[in-house]
Amino acid sequence: MNSKPVLFLDSGLGGIPYCRDFLKRNPNEAICYLADRLNFPYGPRGKEEIASILTALTEKLLKTANPKIAVLACNTASIAALAPLRENFPNLPFVGTVPAIKPAANASKNGKIGVLGTERTINDIRSLHLADDRCEIIGVAAPELVEFVEHGFYNADENEKTEIVKKYIKLFRAEGADTVVLGCTHFLYLLEDFRREAAPFIKIFDSLDGITKRIEYLLEENDGILRAEKDSRPVNRFILTGTNAPDQFWRDMAQKLGFNLCLLEEL
Ligand code: DGL
Repeated sequence: MNSKPVLFLDSGLGGIPYCRDFLKRNPNEAICYLADRLNFPYGPRGKEEIASILTALTEKLLKTANPKIAVLACNTASIAALAPLRENFPNLPFVGTVPAIKPAANASKNGKIGVLGTERTINDIRSLHLADDRCEIIGVAAPELVEFVEHGFYNADENEKTEIVKKYIKLFRAEGADTVVLGCTHFLYLLEDFRREAAPFIKIFDSLDGITKRIEYLLEENDGILRAEKDSRPVNRFILTGTNAPDQFWRDMAQKLGFNLCLLEEL
């Protein structure tokens, strides 16, 4: 049994749907959620830069939060940094998030798969070999959508959400895609809008379920040595980078989750 926390990392809000999904199914596990607001957004950054940001964060978090598993709840971070992180921290199991291209390719009838992600993800997507060569990947970078979710979503009305999503569905329809993968964790906030606007022409895919199952698999391995006690009542933490006092937005976010808010600096 192991009472150490499961760490979720993202540049901002993107990892929260993953964290919630995991917590719903695993309420005895302690969670640390890190929002790297200081370095948001990751999407326009170079691979090496993202890898060095995440290496420094992991180093610090290993000393302070002491996680048993680290979940990169961010496609951009996973694509840029998963391999170097595994190399630099061989004793910490990492779970990465990659766009769900395989299930989309299996479901696609015409082999045209749309992928929506950050600039970094779309730039590097083909090097991941997630689809078979007969599939055509239609990659679209949507930094505007990342920005919208991080800074506009909670104050936006339904109409604004529909309009921004419509724009991308229109683009994928014009390209003939019959499946679209949400390849950025931020876009999960708009999942229902995407599904509604895409039906019945395009099927939407995401990686939420796959990530939760992968973490559970790691916890169950070796007779569940990493699992927390069944009756444990963990204290969950919401950690922010940067030295500015958290504003109301972050305080509300942590409160909604029932997590204790703190700065990485203070740990
Ligand atoms: N949530 C991140 C992802 O899944 C990207 C956001 C950013 O650009 O920082 O790719």
